[in-house]
Amino acid sequence: MKLYVVCAVLIVSLTEAKNPGLKTRITDAGLTYASQVAIEQLSKSVKGQKIPDQSGRSGDVSYELSNIVIDSFSNPSCGITVTADGLNWKADGLGLSINGHFHYKYHGIIPISDGGNIDVSVSGVNFNVGISLGVDGTGRPKIASSGCSCSIGSVGVHFHGGAAWIYNLFKGVVEDALKKQLNGQLCTIINKAVNTDASQSLAKLKVTVDIAKMFMLDYRFIGRPAFNTGHFLETYHKGEIYWTNSMTEAPFDPPSMPQISSTTKMFYISMSDYVFNTLAYEAQIHKMLEYNLTQKDLPAKEKDFLNTTCVGTPCIGQVIPQIGKKYPNRQVTMFMSSDFSPNMSVSNGKVNVLCGGTINMLTVQGDLFLLTLNATMTASVALNVKREKIYGSISEMKLKLHVVKSNVGQISDTVLNFIANTAIIAFAEPQLNKLGAKGIPLPVTDNVHFINTEVTLNKDTLMIGTDLQYQ
Ligand SMILES: *[C@@H]1O[C@H](CO)[C@@H](O)[C@H](O)[C@H]1NC(C)=O
Ligand SMILES: *[C@@H]1O[C@H](CO)[C@@H](O)[C@H](O)[C@H]1NC(C)=O
Ligand SMILES: *[C@@H]1O[C@H](CO)[C@@H](O)[C@H](O)[C@H]1NC(C)=O
Ligand SMILES: *[C@@H]1O[C@H](CO)[C@@H](O)[C@H](O)[C@H]1NC(C)=O
Repeated sequence: MKLYVVCAVLIVSLTEAKNPGLKTRITDAGLTYASQVAIEQLSKSVKGQKIPDQSGRSGDVSYELSNIVIDSFSNPSCGITVTADGLNWKADGLGLSINGHFHYKYHGIIPISDGGNIDVSVSGVNFNVGISLGVDGTGRPKIASSGCSCSIGSVGVHFHGGAAWIYNLFKGVVEDALKKQLNGQLCTIINKAVNTDASQSLAKLKVTVDIAKMFMLDYRFIGRPAFNTGHFLETYHKGEIYWTNSMTEAPFDPPSMPQISSTTKMFYISMSDYVFNTLAYEAQIHKMLEYNLTQKDLPAKEKDFLNTTCVGTPCIGQVIPQIGKKYPNRQVTMFMSSDFSPNMSVSNGKVNVLCGGTINMLTVQGDLFLLTLNATMTASVALNVKREKIYGSISEMKLKLHVVKSNVGQISDTVLNFIANTAIIAFAEPQLNKLGAKGIPLPVTDNVHFINTEVTLNKDTLMIGTDLQYQ
């Protein structure tokens, strides 16, 4: 039993020791914004809140209050700060105005009974809520209130209609009753805002995202967030892309990512090479990186490039005359396959991709073997972020070919480079750009949008710094 516990602890600490594939940081500026958004949400849920009917007696007067509704909310000064194990949301100087109806009975020598409307102004409302943030068993974030306290500065009741001398007999009692009622009710509303509203909003966070129906991007939390008291909050995510139908781990680990040192934006996301490399790995082992290039794949102006006979426009039979001579009036298919998982790495401010593969050329008519080529492709990729998705496009692509086997004699490198640039890059670049244009969605909820977004490249890491806008 003891050994089991030791092993379990070891396993847990081993898994936690793995670097995250992706991490986020919410800065002070982000929390200030979050607090404004939270107050706006709170203001919406407070406005229109009904306060239960009240009744009481003060000396010779008994009263009843009914239809009491909070009809305005004035913003307090507020802030969210990071504590050792969560957040603290504090607001000072909140004001409320309340409307209602009153009725009283004066049980004096001459009984009087009357009623009318009341206006109540409440000022100096302060509250302080502890918020605990954690992760549930499925890697989703959890939020809960860990305690709310509230105090009410002053409550002033103004009666409309009737005789002031009677109101003065029970005004103080009404004010005290309302103060007591509000004190309890505000924390109930705030706790609900955290435990229900914020919690439901977090539950909508995309922690797994489907990509092209074949891949699954895993943004699950791999551990508790880190709380840097007074400064920021960091969350750590798996950041791995799986093959949806067989979720096995990639045989390599995420690299360590540099610290996020910038603090001017509200929110930072650091995404490591790992996210892209696990995608490339899954694509490779599931044979997604194979393609048979035929005439129909070529751009219009290169359409006839795979012909073995041509006049005017260059074709493969003209570029490699040996092919044209040996097998005239045919078309060629290039069977292309990747030999290893393409590798992406960010270094020296550039995103570099390396791919390597084999190209077999055969004639379409008769399946006659022509050539086997070895291809190595290097590319630089420009990355950018738009609408909470990250997109890539090839900014520079180089392809090196060399002959591994030939059925048509010796072929020079110049010729091969011509083929590389005419057919393969002309085909591959738009294909890869199409893929890059699909975009990888970043882990945010649907109602949060990125503004003033900046992308920075660090070692093995793509860092996105952004301000947020809540809608
Ligand atoms: C390419 O063609 C070969 C032979 O016809 C076939 O076995 C293979 O499945 C094709 N590959 C793709 C990706 O279409
Ligand atoms: C290339 O081959 C296709 C189909 O065999 C043919 O229609 C086309 O005319 C050829 N192009 C040239 C320039 O000969
Ligand atoms: C990708 O290439 C870099 C640099 O060559 C290397 O350090 C890294 O291990 C490679 N990553 C994978 C997943 O193959
Ligand atoms: C293909 O080229 C790469 C890089 O030049 C080399 O490492 C590899 O061994 C070559 N493969 C074959 C089959 O020639």
